[in-house]
Amino acid sequence: MRLARRAAVAIAAGALLSGTAAYGTASAGDTASATAQHLPQPWAGTSQADTLRDAAATQGRFVGTALNDGLLNNPTYTAIAGGEFSSVTAENAMKWGSLESTRGQYNWGGADRLVEFADRHGQQVYGHTLVWHSQLPGWVENGNFSPTELRGIVDNHIATVAGRYAGDIDRWDVVNEVFNEDGTFRDSVFSRAFGESFVADAFRATRAADPDARLFINDYNTDGINAKSDGMYRLVSSLLDAGVPIDGVGFQSHMILGQMPASYQANLQRFADLGLEVVITELDIRMNTPSDAGRLAQQAEQYRQVVQACLNVDRCSGVTMWGVSDRDSWIPGVFPGEGAANLYDEDYRPKPAYGAVLAAFGGGGDPDPTDPTDPTDPSDPTDPTDPAPGGCTVSYRVTSAWPGGSVVEVGVTTATALDGWQATFALPAGARVTGGWNATFSQSGSTVTAANVAHNRAVGAGGTFGFGFQSDTGAHGAPAVSLNGERCATG
Ligand code: G3I
Repeated sequence: MRLARRAAVAIAAGALLSGTAAYGTASAGDTASATAQHLPQPWAGTSQADTLRDAAATQGRFVGTALNDGLLNNPTYTAIAGGEFSSVTAENAMKWGSLESTRGQYNWGGADRLVEFADRHGQQVYGHTLVWHSQLPGWVENGNFSPTELRGIVDNHIATVAGRYAGDIDRWDVVNEVFNEDGTFRDSVFSRAFGESFVADAFRATRAADPDARLFINDYNTDGINAKSDGMYRLVSSLLDAGVPIDGVGFQSHMILGQMPASYQANLQRFADLGLEVVITELDIRMNTPSDAGRLAQQAEQYRQVVQACLNVDRCSGVTMWGVSDRDSWIPGVFPGEGAANLYDEDYRPKPAYGAVLAAFGGGGDPDPTDPTDPTDPSDPTDPTDPAPGGCTVSYRVTSAWPGGSVVEVGVTTATALDGWQATFALPAGARVTGGWNATFSQSGSTVTAANVAHNRAVGAGGTFGFGFQSDTGAHGAPAVSLNGERCATG
C-alpha cells in the first residue's frame, strides 16, 4: 500500500524521482497531463497552471510546504496545503524528539497523519529529519552513553523510523545542520562520540532501511558561497569520494528581506556539478513587522529570484516553503519583531510573493481575484469597470452548510442564446471547490470558473441552466457571478 502511494506520486511528479536523467528533461506536456490525473480535487482541472503545484510540475519541479500537524483541523489551512503544494515536509512531527521523547515509546500519530495527508492529496513526502543535534529527546542528549551504546541507539532510530516509512518517503534529510558558521564541524552529542564519521554511518544506515528514498544533508546559511557552504562542499565531496550513499543537498534558505546572496545560483550549481540533486528545503523571507506594500513587493521579487535560481539549475528538483502562512510561521517566536515571511498572510490571503512564485514557475491567474483595487478582476462587485448587469440573471443558493463545508446550487438565465458558457465567481479566501455537477470546475486563487459540459453547452435566448458544487467552506453570502465575462444581475 505504501509502495503504491509513492509510485502514484512519482508519476504525478513527472519522473523527478527516477534519477538524474530526469532532471529538467520531462516535457511540459508530459508532466502536466500526468499531474492532472492525480489532482487532489475530484473535479477536473484546466490546462492552465493556476496552482503552484501545477505550475511547478510544468517545469518538472515540486513545490512543497512544511506541514504543521497542529493545524490539520483547520480547513482553510488544509485546503491550501493540499491544493497548492505537491510535496510536504513535517515541520516537527518526524523529528526524534517528537517521535520518541521517552525511550522505546513511539508516538507515530503526527508522522502518520502527514503521510496520510500526502497520500490523500497526491503529494510527495520529504522526511525531516533523522540525525539532528536539536529537538533531540532528553534521554539521548543527556544519556552519557558510551560511543558503542550511542551507535546502537542511532542505528536503531534510523532503522525504526526510516524502516517504518520506507515506500512513503521520497527524500530524507538524513543529517541536519552539522556545521558552524565558519564551516567547522558543530559540537554535538554525535560529534563528541564519533567525530564526523556519524554522517557517513547515518547515510549508510538510512539506505539500508529505505533503499528507494533519496538521501540528503541539509543546512541553513549555506545558501550563498561562504565559509559554511564551503564546509558543506568539502564534506559532501569526501562522502562521494568514499562511496557514501548521498543523493542531495538541502539549502534551507531562511532568508532576510534584501539579503539574497549574489552567489545563490552559483552555489546551487557547484553542488549540482558534483552530480547531486539540490533542493531549496525551508524557504521563507522575513522582514521587520508590520509589513507594508513596498516590502511585500520587495519580498515577492526575492521569492521570484530564489525560484528562478532553482529553475536555472537542472538538478534543482524543487522548492519547499517553510509553512503556509504568516500566521503559522516559526519566525515571530524566535525573532521578535520580525515575520511576514511566507506566501500567505495571517488571514490566509495570497501575498504578492504567491503571485511571484506562481509566475516564476510559469503559472498564471490572479492571486487575489477579489482585490477591489485590481480592475482586471471579473467578479469584483465593487469594480466600476465591470459591465453593468443586464444580459443574465443569477441565483446563488447555499442549500446546506456545516462548519467546514457547504453545497451550493447556481441557476443562470441568459437573455441571449449561448453556444458554450463560463460562469465565474469568487469563494471566500482560502475556500476550494471539492466536487460538483453539471459543469467543469477550475479555480485560481479564490476565483472559480464553472464551464459548460456537453449536454448544457447550448442555451436558447431566455433559457436557464444550472449547476452545483460542494466546497470546503461553510455558510457564506452569494458572490457576484459573471457569465462569459459579463456580470449578472441577481434574481
Ligand atoms: O509541541 C510542544 C508543545 O507541547 C509545548 O507546549 C510547546 C511549549 O514551547 O512546545 C511545543 O513544541 C514546539 C514545536 O516547535 C512545535 O510547535 C517547540 O517548543 C519549538 O521549539 C518547535 O519549534 C520548531 C523548531 O524547528 C525547533 O527547532 C519550529 O516549529 C520549526 O519550524 C523549526 O524548524 C526548523 C527546522 O526543523 C530545521 N531548520 C530550521 C527551522 C527553523 O528553526
